Amino acid sequence: MKLFIDTANIDEIREINTWGVLSGVTTNPSLIAKNGGIVKDVLNEICELVDGPVSAEVNAECSEGMIKEARELVKIHKNIIIKIPITEEGLKALKILSKEGIKTNLTLIFSESQALLAARAGATYVSPFMGRLDDIGEDGLKLVENIKKIFALHNIETEIIAASVRNVSHVRGAALVGSDITTITYKIFKEMIRHDLTVKGLEKFKEDFNRVYKKEIK
Ligand code: E4P
Repeated sequence: MKLFIDTANIDEIREINTWGVLSGVTTNPSLIAKNGGIVKDVLNEICELVDGPVSAEVNAECSEGMIKEARELVKIHKNIIIKIPITEEGLKALKILSKEGIKTNLTLIFSESQALLAARAGATYVSPFMGRLDDIGEDGLKLVENIKKIFALHNIETEIIAASVRNVSHVRGAALVGSDITTITYKIFKEMIRHDLTVKGLEKFKEDFNRVYKKEIK
């Protein structure tokens, strides 16, 4: 399973990218607004930092508007992926854009049927939102698992980006059910690397080493 970072914050992307674990980036209108700046410049900077797919979302509600925005967004950088909401207008736009060879990420997926429609209209990626489903008492991970099963059963090549990740156990779950990608916030990357026993173990190694070799350490 590949790991993407879910943010438009350049400092966060730059830091996690030094770990060598990033295969791509997802943004959305809320994340872009939170970050501020000139949208095209921010997206270009992200693409220059991470060599992988960078999702940029359209804001228009009608398919014509989405298509127009998408054609502009892909001019920013070769790695831009067009994020489109799963609506009727979104599907219409997807049909045209996929025929033009523009890569897409169908977002706000909350059901298996939405994922199937997106895949059949030519989506490169679908993004099921786990956390937001859990928030309303449903099982977000089960949705990712079911989409994976459906895509495998019917030889669908659309890749799954498990999104709206709330905790480390969502990441572990998505990996175990075979999600192709999970997109994770900066905070959760930090939580993933931390373990109390690693911290304790390191302290003990340091203490034992220093007891014997302290004088030799400069
Ligand atoms: C994914 O592409 C979305 O940007 C994101 O995961 C949404 O997460 P949220 O539910 O925490 O806003």
